[in-house]
Amino acid sequence: MQGYVKVSNVKTARISDMVYGHFIEHLGRCIYGGIYERGSPLSDQRGFRKDVLEAVKKIKCPILRWPGGNFASAYHWKDGIGPVEKRPKLLNYIWGGIETNEFGTDEFIEYCREAGAEPYLSVSLGTGTLDEALQWLEYCNLDTPTKYATLRKQSGHEKPYNVKYWGIGNEVYGPWQVGHCSASEYAEKLRQFAQFMKGIDPSIKIIAVGADDPEWDMTVLKHAGKVIDYISIHQYHGSEDHYETISSVYYIEERLKLLRSLIKHLKLDHVKIAFDEWNVWYQTIPEKEMAEQGIVTLEESYALKDALFAAGVFCVMHRMSDIVEIANVAQMVNALGIIKTNKTSLVLTPIYHVFDLFVNHTGRTRLDMKLACDTYSIKAKSFFEGRISFSLENVPYIDGSATYDERTKTVSLALVNYKDGTVKVTVDLSDFKTLSTQAVVHELTGPDAFSKNDFENPNIVRPSQKIIQLAGKVFDIELQRLSLTILEIKIE
Ligand code: AHR
Repeated sequence: MQGYVKVSNVKTARISDMVYGHFIEHLGRCIYGGIYERGSPLSDQRGFRKDVLEAVKKIKCPILRWPGGNFASAYHWKDGIGPVEKRPKLLNYIWGGIETNEFGTDEFIEYCREAGAEPYLSVSLGTGTLDEALQWLEYCNLDTPTKYATLRKQSGHEKPYNVKYWGIGNEVYGPWQVGHCSASEYAEKLRQFAQFMKGIDPSIKIIAVGADDPEWDMTVLKHAGKVIDYISIHQYHGSEDHYETISSVYYIEERLKLLRSLIKHLKLDHVKIAFDEWNVWYQTIPEKEMAEQGIVTLEESYALKDALFAAGVFCVMHRMSDIVEIANVAQMVNALGIIKTNKTSLVLTPIYHVFDLFVNHTGRTRLDMKLACDTYSIKAKSFFEGRISFSLENVPYIDGSATYDERTKTVSLALVNYKDGTVKVTVDLSDFKTLSTQAVVHELTGPDAFSKNDFENPNIVRPSQKIIQLAGKVFDIELQRLSLTILEIKIE
């Protein structure tokens, strides 16, 4: 099979740094035993796992969403502040087990500061109230001589945290959610929360719950569109079948386009998309885990095919950078995590390496790119034993994104080969006046689509790097089967 890629020296859009964001939730070992493990020789005096933090810093987490997810719907922030030994131990109603509240707002903000991430807080619409949300906002962002701002100062945090991103509720469209309600009920609550929260701090950005359902999304946008800044969408996919998994990237693109068309239709140009939960989620059935162990951990293990899915999702987000400004992979560690830990070490999954390659080796200015290759049709079932099904025509075997890094004056061409066979691609860069004659090539692949990294063999799927000489401005490159390849070429 052959492919053709032409990159033009035409800058089409700015890609938001925040599409490379993450999500942490009080779920299984995501926080406790993941990013935070007090008393572990691997942790610092704050309880932060140093090895995890180092890995997180490497992929420059730009925005971190917390405390859920579903957990947020039953979370009361006041349980997680003040002296740690005085914080209540509570049942984690949502995912099972005991919530010690050791990791609360102050710890989260400290973690964000250390990782260099913008904090993104999810407000409870389940057992939580508007009062609690307003008090949380006061605690975080105000410098007034009032109760909750003073509480923060008394905990040793004189300066406000200035948390900019506030999500109002989580997946309240679903019957699994504490706080489940109709679209119009939600839209009115959202309007009130946004109005009063912005009344206290007009600089904040409000993220509304979108449902990936035009009826819900229209109701929310029509009623509260003027007071929100983002509408969210969640997408989980994955099946045992490689092509079913990777084709869901194009299903996601269709859903994002649909949401964009609703926003445009209502002329709400200030509203952007927060794609604030996405990942592969296919093996673990939480209901079964809960019944058997009384606790849900969602410890998925990710393979090369899941990494190619993630690379495809980034190509989609680049294409849709006019509207997708925030994205948070669900999740960062252990529970659906792209990093896995045990008591003594960690493993970077293939998806982590895709983050590394995109964050550190692509630019934030999108270049115009034309791509031609063979395509296929598919009827697929994905997520949780096929809860989502779709049919797609003209699904490409390869995908990509061309970007430019202004700081290093480098053109970066990311190419994903989903096919279980090599593909020769002719790359045409003739539009560029000056170009280096060599390229740095990063490649991520592995023995087969199902290859994984684990504690015994942590480096089965990992990126390699080499320098190649280019035959000219138009050259051929062979993409390895099942691979992500990134070429970095300096404009001289
Ligand atoms: O990421 C796991 C869960 O998936 C989140 O808590 C919830 O928002 C979604 O259903």
